[in-house]
Amino acid sequence: MLRSCWSFILLLLLSTGALGGSSNSLLDVRPDGSQLVTVNSDNGSISVVDLKTRKKVVEVHVGDKPEGATWIGTSPLALVTVYRDDHVAFVDTAQGKVVHQLKVEDEPYGIVALKDGSKAYVTLEYPGKVIEIDVAARRVTRELPAGEMVRGIALSPDEKTLYVTEFYTGVLVAIDRELGKVVDRWQGHSTDNLARQVVVHPTRPKAYLAHIRSKVLVNHGAGSIFPQLSVCDLVAPRETSRRTSFGMDTFNGVYVVTNPWETALSPDGRWLYTIYAGTNDMNVCRVIDDDYREIQREGMPRRTGSNPRAIRTSPDGEEVYIYNTLDFTVTVHDQLVRKTLATITVCAPPKSPEWVRGKILFSTARYPLTSRNWIACASCHPDGHSDNRVWKNPEGLRRTPPLMGLAHTHPLHWSADRDETQDFEYTIRSQLMQGAGFLGRGLKPKQGFQATELEVKTGGKSKDLDALAIYTNSFTFTLSPHIPAPGKLSPEARRGKALFFEETVGCAKCHSGPYYTDSSLTRPYKLHDVGTGQDDPLEKMGPKYDTPTLLGVYRSAPYLHHGKAKTLLEVLTTCNKEDKHGKTSHLTREQLDDLVAFLKSLPYELPPDETPNTVKDRFVEPKRKD
Ligand code: HEC
Ligand code: HEC
Repeated sequence: MLRSCWSFILLLLLSTGALGGSSNSLLDVRPDGSQLVTVNSDNGSISVVDLKTRKKVVEVHVGDKPEGATWIGTSPLALVTVYRDDHVAFVDTAQGKVVHQLKVEDEPYGIVALKDGSKAYVTLEYPGKVIEIDVAARRVTRELPAGEMVRGIALSPDEKTLYVTEFYTGVLVAIDRELGKVVDRWQGHSTDNLARQVVVHPTRPKAYLAHIRSKVLVNHGAGSIFPQLSVCDLVAPRETSRRTSFGMDTFNGVYVVTNPWETALSPDGRWLYTIYAGTNDMNVCRVIDDDYREIQREGMPRRTGSNPRAIRTSPDGEEVYIYNTLDFTVTVHDQLVRKTLATITVCAPPKSPEWVRGKILFSTARYPLTSRNWIACASCHPDGHSDNRVWKNPEGLRRTPPLMGLAHTHPLHWSADRDETQDFEYTIRSQLMQGAGFLGRGLKPKQGFQATELEVKTGGKSKDLDALAIYTNSFTFTLSPHIPAPGKLSPEARRGKALFFEETVGCAKCHSGPYYTDSSLTRPYKLHDVGTGQDDPLEKMGPKYDTPTLLGVYRSAPYLHHGKAKTLLEVLTTCNKEDKHGKTSHLTREQLDDLVAFLKSLPYELPPDETPNTVKDRFVEPKRKD
């Protein structure tokens, strides 16, 4: 019954054509196939491309880190999510300007719109919600709880259901649009990670998610990160197998692909395209009407340009568009991607040439970063965020920290065993990445768990390695969403702040200065035993650790080097039984809650661009004048 309902939808859909705007992407094709919008995240802009003349028509500045766009019906209006500025930009592409900015709670990421253009739906990553926007009224009409850290979003062909992905778990949820609540959930494997997009088949009741698996128990160039394509059966009863996952590393024989970023379906549902941002290639697959086989590879992977992050087809399915984000081009291909029909430059390289070079190196799973093609820095630090994992490293359990503010919080690593970002040459050459690196022979090998990196100078020796450091050191914070206004604290947070700076509680002794850390490159380094070093029998470097910054902790659970504190409250209670980590045992539950409210408000004002501890290898965004 349900299946026949889907075939009916097929007829409807084929008669109306377009799939455009039905799933989140950095590309969206206008329903009439005349234009394409590209979201240039690093430039803070969108570009409109005329698909007939194959030329960029206009580029419009929208704000800091746009992450998705959708055309609104057949109009020239496009809606764009601006991730770091927390707004949705309404862009009149005919006039080439932003006509409205709709403020939203935090981190708008994916966006889709109904075919008639009346409503748009946006995932808000950190709050874990989907918002409904009444496009004509330019307002948010509903907030729908969706999950944790949600990014991907797609509409079912009948537009009754929204499918949403959790970035760090790969979980897919279905939200009934009318009821406004989650009605179904497809759990993946515990290692599923970085699921930033989802597409729904036009006729088969299936959703496709490209993502990675992070195998935290393995520290190996070919065993830590896996490329996956998960297929969820949207109508199967709960007790049956409802989710299959294909390992794309073995899918192409011995040809390994890395960091699957996005998929697209042809409008007739015959072809499925998957792009790999780490190895710069893609697969074309035939969709098989068989719940076991699902997809069949059509030849070998095709090479793309640098760091492909989006893929779409024309409404008639004849053309395929790939956004090569680090070539700043969209390439146009035939249906089976055997030919490149055009290459269209959509924006200029952003920031600085070194930053761009650094991002290319950070994103790639090719030589000289690794010899194994499975792994990239970006597999664990996507766009400077954490992968939300605790890795079983040779020195013990280590949680991946976000890289925001890194330029000001050296030394590096939980154990402060690195003093330059170029020391990640040692990571590149380690068992984890098995790359050749940049410094050639003669680099002093690491001895056991000794901090060889502190003796060896790695900066200023290779332009590429310096570029990698510049990129890695350039991530900055955005304000916490837990504040009433920039620079302001809620009453609870204000009480918590007083406790934080109180002598007996003593947090500010170590979490000092504008970055809330006493980390400094002045030797000897200040490492502290805060009673967290005994919890991991495999620990080789504890029990003293470098004080982490507290900026942005509202979104970076789990906490501590080993990730054993699931919440900020646990850092101060169950993980601080001996009062070695500040004195907290005398605090009432209310006071603890106040302290947590303060921690969640960080940063409530942006920290300075420059401190006495700031390293020079980084890119600082010039202030915009408009
Ligand atoms: C398998 C996942 C993984 C990969 C791949 C990876 N990292 Fe990391 N990264 C981690 C973890 C886990 C930590 C914390 C380790 C520690 O502190 O001992 C970390 C720490 C760091 C830090 C220190 C952050 C801080 O606040 O001290 C930097 C910088 C960094 N990584 C950069 C890189 C670069 C550059 C690459 C690529 C050459 C890379 N990482 C590859 C997981 C990874
Ligand atoms: C003696 C120095 C010191 C004092 C005092 C101190 N901290 Fe820490 N803090 C650290 C160190 C070191 C770590 C890292 C420990 C680990 O990872 O095992 C840490 C970790 C944390 C974390 C986890 C951050 C993350 O990203 O995982 C939070 C939250 C935190 N501290 C809050 C506080 C609060 C609140 C207080 C006051 C009650 C406090 N700290 C007092 C040194 C200190």
